[in-house]
This record gives sequence, structure tokens and C-alpha cells, in this order.
Amino acid sequence: MNTTTTAPAATAALPSTVRSYHLGEGSGLDRLTLRTAAPRTPGPGEVAVAVRAVSLSFRELLVLRGQYVLPVKPDVVPVSDGAGEVVAVGPGVRWARPGDRVTATLFPHWRDGRLAADLLPQLGGSLDGMLTELAVLPEEALLPVPAHLSYPEAATLPCVGLTAWNALTGDGHGVRPGETVLTTGSGGVSLFAVQFARRLGARVIATTGSREKEQRLRELGADEVVNYRDRPDWHTAVRELTGGRGVDRVVETAGSLEQSVKSLALDGHLALVGSVSGDWTPLDPRLLFSVAATVRTVAVGSHTQFAAMNAFVAEHTLRPVVDRVFPFEEAAAAYDHYDRTNPFGKVVITVA
Ligand SMILES: NC(=O)c1ccc[n+]([C@@H]2O[C@H](COP(=O)([O-])OP(=O)(O)OC[C@H]3O[C@@H](n4cnc5c(N)ncnc54)[C@H](OP(=O)(O)O)[C@@H]3O)[C@@H](O)[C@H]2O)c1
Repeated sequence: MNTTTTAPAATAALPSTVRSYHLGEGSGLDRLTLRTAAPRTPGPGEVAVAVRAVSLSFRELLVLRGQYVLPVKPDVVPVSDGAGEVVAVGPGVRWARPGDRVTATLFPHWRDGRLAADLLPQLGGSLDGMLTELAVLPEEALLPVPAHLSYPEAATLPCVGLTAWNALTGDGHGVRPGETVLTTGSGGVSLFAVQFARRLGARVIATTGSREKEQRLRELGADEVVNYRDRPDWHTAVRELTGGRGVDRVVETAGSLEQSVKSLALDGHLALVGSVSGDWTPLDPRLLFSVAATVRTVAVGSHTQFAAMNAFVAEHTLRPVVDRVFPFEEAAAAYDHYDRTNPFGKVVITVA
């Protein structure tokens, strides 16, 4: 890849019309409307990407329900995560070329370092997202797709993949071989966390509330699986599995903060990612002192972190878990399937 020269504008391959979903007024899936418009020509530094696949995350349900933590603009094209093919570039674009397979960061302007207020605009929120046939994106947001991944697989990386990577590596030194990592539930973040942690050399303990998913978590790389329905005191089970010591790290996605802290070894690290259960019960700070815990909240990740993750994914030929693929015209059915069926793996919508 040539990162030093600039390309002239190239727009010949733009389609004559573009279909995009928008989130309108109303509630639930009725908000999802498909519209056709003329394509936007990429401006300076911009790249037009023919989207081939997008994936749904818990975030998309929150956006649909009007519950997302960050601003969402009216009539937004939803979905932060997608992958596609470059079809046209604007003036001054440095490396992207028609035919390149790319994904985009959820925070297009967050290149590196600390997150800041001016870096918070995000795809499928305050900016139009990827549930469209053609996304025009700043080149700085784009990354090449690891060569072994299909478009549906690559579309799973930007939100939950990068969040899991950040949770496990974003504290400066990351998971050390021989450490024990606890993942909570088997959602998108957790399935990536299981795969990353195992390949980083950790012993992995995973929780799930589903008996069918126990074996699949083992096949994915979990050394031990604790069913939180069979063991409501699952933190006790986790301590038993570690000889009473506790785990070095937790990736907390479930809304089970107190039990996750109670699973930690002394001086352990808790990556606070979210709460699928919606439980945000306050935590007694003395509990944190009792294990000298470090708690770090995670906000997806930067372009630099995404590039590091992609290199790791390529090195280990890691394959994301895809549950089911829907065609573009059935986007509403994809949302519904994701919301209702408690899938194992990502729900993907293919475009074109
Ligand atoms: N901070 C960030 O940057 C960031 C980024 C991405 C996601 N998030 C947040 O992280 C969370 C996970 O996101 P996701 O996209 O991975 O979600 P997801 O794929 O929708 O996760 C669904 C899974 O959560 C598990 N689950 C549901 N209720 C549970 C409970 N009471 N206890 C334990 N597990 C439970 C279930 O697994 P089992 O069937 O195995 O029990 C279910 O399959 C969400 O809160 C999301 O908003 C935050």
C-alpha cells in the first residue's frame, strides 16, 4: 500500500442511484425506512465505499429504541459496522484505490491516543452509517480488510471486535500469557474476547445462560464455562475454578458488575464494556478496595487499535462467528432475529 502519494479524484464507478435505510419517527422497526437517492460524489479526502455487508450489535438496538448514550441525528442511516469495496475516491486521497476491501472505524476521527470530545462523532449515530449501498467516508476512517476474511466476517469487526480487543489490550500491557480472563455472556463482544484472550495465551473462563452455548464456547476457546442460570452465585464458581484466587481480568458486558468484581484476583483488571441486562446497580466502592481492582471503561477503540487488532486477526487467521446472514431487503427481519433469538454470533446483512 502506498501511503505517501495522493490519488486524483476517481468517480467513474458511482452507481446512478443508492438505496439507504433511514431511522424515521415512530417506534421500533417501523422507524426503518428504505429510500433511494442520487449518490454523493466523494469530496476532498473522502472515499465512496460500495457496502457489501453490515453487522448488528446491541448498540443498534439501543439506537433503534432511542436509548443510545451518544447523540443520534434525525433520519440517520443506521448501523456503525460494515465492510465494502472502494469504488471512487475524492481529491487528495492518499492510499485508498478502487477495488480495495475496507472497513471503517466507528469513531471516524479517532486516530490514536485518548478519546476527546471532538472525536465523538460516530457512524450510525451523529453521522450516517453503513446500512446503505454506498457510504461516503473520510479516508482516515478506513482500514484494509484482513485478506482471509469475507465481507460478512469483516463487517463484524468495527464495534464488538475492537471493543473486545481494547478491553484486553488497551491498558498499556494487555493480557499476559498464563493469566486468567473471564468473559460474561456470549454476546458479540464476549465471543471476540474469548477468541482473542485464548490466542493471547490466557486461560479463559466464560459465562453463559444457555446450555446449548456451553459447548460452542468451549469449541471457540473457553477452557471453562459457567452457566449463570445453574449457578446464580457464578462468581463463587469462578473462584472455585481458580483455586480461590480469582481471575486476572474480566470483560464485563452483562450488567453484573458486583459479581464480576467478586470474581477478580487481587490487583485484577475489570474492563467495563456495557450492560446487556440493563442492570446498572451502584457498586459499593469498598468492594473495589477489597481486591485492589482497576476498573477501566472501554469506548470501542481508535484507528491505531483497530489496525493492531486486524494484524492480530490476520496473524492468527481468526474467524469471527457469524450466526445468520440476511439480504439487504430483509434488514428489518435481521433486526428482529437479533433482538428475539439470542443468537450465537453476529447477525449480518449483505448488501448488493
Ligand atoms: N463501551 C463500548 O464501547 C461498547 C462497545 C460494544 C458493546 N458495548 C456494550 O456491551 C454490551 C454487549 O454488547 P454486544 O453487542 O456484545 O451484545 P449482544 O451480542 O447483544 O449480547 C447478547 C448476549 O448477552 C448475554 N446476556 C444477556 N443477558 C445476560 C445476563 N443477564 N447476564 C449475562 N449475559 C447476558 C447473552 O448471552 P448468553 O446467552 O450466553 O447468556 C446474549 O447472547 C452491551 O451492553 C453493549 O451496549 C459497549
